[in-house]
Amino acid sequence: MPDTIIGQPIDRIDGKAKVTGAARYSGDRRAEHPAFGVIVTSTIGRGTITKIDIKAAEQAPGVVLVMSHENAPAQAPFKQEGEDRHARPKPQLAEARIHYHGEPVALVVADTFEQATAAARLVEVSYQAEAGLYELREGRRLAYPPSKMPNGKADSKVGDLERGLAEGAARIDATYTTPYQSHNPMEPPASLAFWSGDQLTIYCSAQLVDSAQKSIAATLNIPADNVELVSEFVGGGFGGKLSIYGDAILAALAARQLKRPVKVTLTRQQMFSVTTHRASTIQRVRLAASRDGTLTAIAHEVVSQSARMDEYVETAAVSTRAMYAAPNRLTTHRVVPLDLPVADSMRAPGDAVGQLALEQAMDELAYKLDIDPVELRIRNEPTQDPEKGVPFSTRALVACLQTGAEKFGWEQRPRVPGTLKDGQWLVGLGMAAAIRVNLRRPAAAKVRMDEDRRVTVEMDMTDIGTGSYTIFAQVAAETLDLPIESVTVKLGHSSYPDTPGSGGSFGAASCCSAVQQACLELRKKVDAGRGPGNVQAEATSEPGDAFKKFSQHSYGAHFAEVAIDSTTGEVRLRRMLGVFDAGRILNPKTARSQLIGGMIWGVSSALHEQAVVDPRYGSFVNHDLAGYHVPVHADIPAVEAIMLAGFDDKSNPLGSKGVGELGICGAGAAVANAVYNACGVRVRDYPFTPDKILSSILRPNVAQRR
Ligand code: MOS
Repeated sequence: MPDTIIGQPIDRIDGKAKVTGAARYSGDRRAEHPAFGVIVTSTIGRGTITKIDIKAAEQAPGVVLVMSHENAPAQAPFKQEGEDRHARPKPQLAEARIHYHGEPVALVVADTFEQATAAARLVEVSYQAEAGLYELREGRRLAYPPSKMPNGKADSKVGDLERGLAEGAARIDATYTTPYQSHNPMEPPASLAFWSGDQLTIYCSAQLVDSAQKSIAATLNIPADNVELVSEFVGGGFGGKLSIYGDAILAALAARQLKRPVKVTLTRQQMFSVTTHRASTIQRVRLAASRDGTLTAIAHEVVSQSARMDEYVETAAVSTRAMYAAPNRLTTHRVVPLDLPVADSMRAPGDAVGQLALEQAMDELAYKLDIDPVELRIRNEPTQDPEKGVPFSTRALVACLQTGAEKFGWEQRPRVPGTLKDGQWLVGLGMAAAIRVNLRRPAAAKVRMDEDRRVTVEMDMTDIGTGSYTIFAQVAAETLDLPIESVTVKLGHSSYPDTPGSGGSFGAASCCSAVQQACLELRKKVDAGRGPGNVQAEATSEPGDAFKKFSQHSYGAHFAEVAIDSTTGEVRLRRMLGVFDAGRILNPKTARSQLIGGMIWGVSSALHEQAVVDPRYGSFVNHDLAGYHVPVHADIPAVEAIMLAGFDDKSNPLGSKGVGELGICGAGAAVANAVYNACGVRVRDYPFTPDKILSSILRPNVAQRR
């Protein structure tokens, strides 16, 4: 046994269960005499259902129930307000009104999945369609300040922006656009519901068990205690399972009505509209700096899509407030209500797309001033949070930049873009910095020790592929001075102690603190001679005022080498390095997996990924994994992540900072900047698909007007 178990690259303790199929995802769950529900979705983007004919579907083989807005049971009304938007009522089939293309309009339940799928095609829906507003640029005239921001205010202003811009010897004024993205984790949302009297049990793929339980209970107008929600294994979340969707509510409603278990699974295509997505953005960044690179002004103004039915703001300029020193600053957020599905958080909400803009603008400024992009960032390192005026908890950004530059061989970068050739390939190097807010929430854990000194940890936390099971076992083993094999971790049941769940990169900080606290209390009891033998302790751990007194973030620096095929415009990543400051690393193996996963998504954001809206109907046209491109193995060569040693005692007792969303921040901008270094033309419209690159290389004037 190593001296410390925390900090060791321990294999996932749930790994064997996952690779042998013993781990049961919601869609894998079985029940006695189940029925299967299939959702029918709208084929218009805005309007009203005038008629819904379910007769043929009802008479189809095996069908036991067809539900529409005409016969759906009463549910609580949807409301936009509420502290926790993931715990709100999510009524389904509640009205004839259509808010977006692909909205559920009916549920067909049959004895088998195949029968339900066949009968779902027989539901005939007639609509009164209305002209919808589907395009961000077109809807921009309706932009308004968001009514609520999750982190800070919509706008921030320091000093005098116009004066700061005028004072600069060099200026950048550039507009960047980022597309819609779909979370589409490997596991689709799936729910299996059954009732025992007025008690609902539901297996459901949820990141936030407590919010999901409350959301279902609120929708059905029943006490939360009457809902037992189980989410033991989650096949990826990325923010797409922060809320629950029609599969959960409709399975619960149908199971109650049929007095029989009902399973509902979203199809891959339905995942593009029935769940949420990352909003597209238009971001204007203005920078000004003196000859030596000292920033005199930073402005970052964001316009993003919001659904007309439910507001969501993509907080893309929030991290800009903490990133670089400058006396004159402005950030703004505006949302545009469109008739599209509801937008919500996706891995590093705000920060991921915000840094695609800011970090490319910094690169543009570096070239304009002829200052090394790494050096430009170091010269603008702030001594304290530039807008909040409080100290940073820990901030090793400069160390990330310097370590990365050295390890990557940054000095080999061609100083003049478009000059390094390798046969038909144009080769370039680019870099970008990364910042991600560090969060923590109250969390509780229960631990029990039996007579054999075996320990069981229970909490309603989830493991969405991140490694939560493993790091909780590490913390419990080390705190109780036991080998890790003595620890069993049980997660994902709503009856276990409340945690904030998996989201916002706050899981490890929040929940490990609770596990440690509960284990310390258990230890006291054992040391007092009360065990072993069914001794147990439960504890809650809460963040103190250190989150007000200190500006808390994790940091990174990305370096990328790309090669552009000068004939086809294809961009290939050749190698990539990220160096990160995430405080103390609890498990370098699972943390590395999170970081390189994020980096790969950054590559995807720069080069591959976009959900395309059909401007006529408001549908995501490429709504499958054939048309919606994500990188495959052949797209991703050597990607490495280095984690700097650190300990942030302002974050939590374990010293860790959030790691899950850090890797994607800035990563795509490093690739974008490498593309510029390779071909000498700026593309500001993500992703850089071959058509855009081709027009850049062959007809540079066209691309530069973008
Ligand atoms: Mo994260 S986008 O808060 O799951």
